[in-house]
Amino acid sequence: MLVASLANPTNAYSRIRLSSYGLGDRGWDLLPEWTPKSVVLDDARVERFRSDRGIAPVTTPVWNGVRPADMAGWIALGREVFFRYPLRAEVFLEHALTTPELSVGVLRAGDGTWPGGIAFEDVDGKTKLGITCALCHTNVENGALVVGRARRTFDYGKLRLAYHEATKTFVDPELARRMRTWGPGRADVTEDDAEDPVAIPDLFGLRAQPALTQAGTILHVGPTALAIRQETQLLHSNHQKIKPPRELAWALAMFVYSLTPPPRTTVADARGAELFARSCRSCHSNRAFGGATVPAGFVGTDRSLADGGARGTGRYRPPSLLAVAEAAPYLHNGAVGSLEDLLDARRFEPSYEGPLGRGAVVGHKWGTDWPEPDRRALLAFLKSL
Ligand code: HEC
Ligand code: HEC
Repeated sequence: MLVASLANPTNAYSRIRLSSYGLGDRGWDLLPEWTPKSVVLDDARVERFRSDRGIAPVTTPVWNGVRPADMAGWIALGREVFFRYPLRAEVFLEHALTTPELSVGVLRAGDGTWPGGIAFEDVDGKTKLGITCALCHTNVENGALVVGRARRTFDYGKLRLAYHEATKTFVDPELARRMRTWGPGRADVTEDDAEDPVAIPDLFGLRAQPALTQAGTILHVGPTALAIRQETQLLHSNHQKIKPPRELAWALAMFVYSLTPPPRTTVADARGAELFARSCRSCHSNRAFGGATVPAGFVGTDRSLADGGARGTGRYRPPSLLAVAEAAPYLHNGAVGSLEDLLDARRFEPSYEGPLGRGAVVGHKWGTDWPEPDRRALLAFLKSL
């Protein structure tokens, strides 16, 4: 299943997995299974940490070891993993909590929790603060938690640089230069730090997608492909010291599939729907309005992620367009500020001022040469998805 799910067996993502996973007597199979004790941070814990760096002990395991009996049970367990299973201990999170004026998108929800932040008992027995999936893949909007929405205010590069500056710890100058270019909502999630960051995606409609990640690194040949991705992500981010029980990886996949955007308030524009069917459906073809990967040269957008050694496949995957109105900035690298700009030929000019600064944003030309009324109708349709 792992072999079948890797779009390009020679990129670093694939090579690491093929040389470590499912080998029986060596590699990751030998790692101990770990069900950590963990709680989501709340105001009381944050206040305590801010006042004396103290962390009260944690006694609740993420899972009680009982296999769920039905789908609702798997999804509920997956939610616990999403909010509570540590990716790793994080000094950067500690710095964000004790330096709130940095304002890097570490957020408090209206119910007094801090989604994405946890206190947990690490493998060495020490209680630490750590991060989870929810740090990048939830948002707080008017106090309410929106699960699955990308946290586009989360500025990991700025946070990490601020930490190194405050603690006078060494950071490789080349890495520091790169982190300065990330900006909010973009993160490099590979451990090698060797390439450009990508925009954090919404996790809506993924079940319908034939490939996962923006460059289609993972062929979504079935739910197991997503479960393996999540298993290896948790294992890898915990410095390959432990592995999550398979049940937790499966539960996490079921939870991710269950995510849907908040209900729409606008109705579809009929003319826009017709234009979309004619000019966009060939690629944005499935029920989440995403589709099969396309050669990067054909889309024409910046190629560095598609050609990158870490996750590259030479292709890009049409993302889901569910709730696309709230998904700005657009494209894999977040280079376009609005849907209006995406459909506007002026972004091809060097004078375009986008989220990444001044400069032309080329490619994905569909719709940019249409008459104004057609573009308006298409925009109205896109905003209803
Ligand atoms: C530091 C921020 C961050 C954290 C934490 C994080 N992710 Fe992501 N996630 C990203 C980014 C950035 C991408 C885009 C990667 C790419 O396209 O190559 C991504 C991509 C994904 C995708 C593929 C989406 C798609 O459109 O195909 C899934 C699924 C996903 N993440 C789930 C998770 C889960 C589950 C966790 C917790 C185990 C998690 N992520 C933790 C930033 C994060
Ligand atoms: C040939 C295939 C193809 C066609 C035709 C196509 N798209 Fe896309 N679309 C893609 C790909 C691939 C991406 C991702 C490109 C990237 O990230 O660099 C994308 C990205 C997008 C995005 C950005 C979504 C986000 O969250 O970043 C929007 C919006 C979009 N397309 C709308 C449209 C509309 C509207 C049309 C028709 C006018 C259309 N597309 C036609 C392949 C296509």
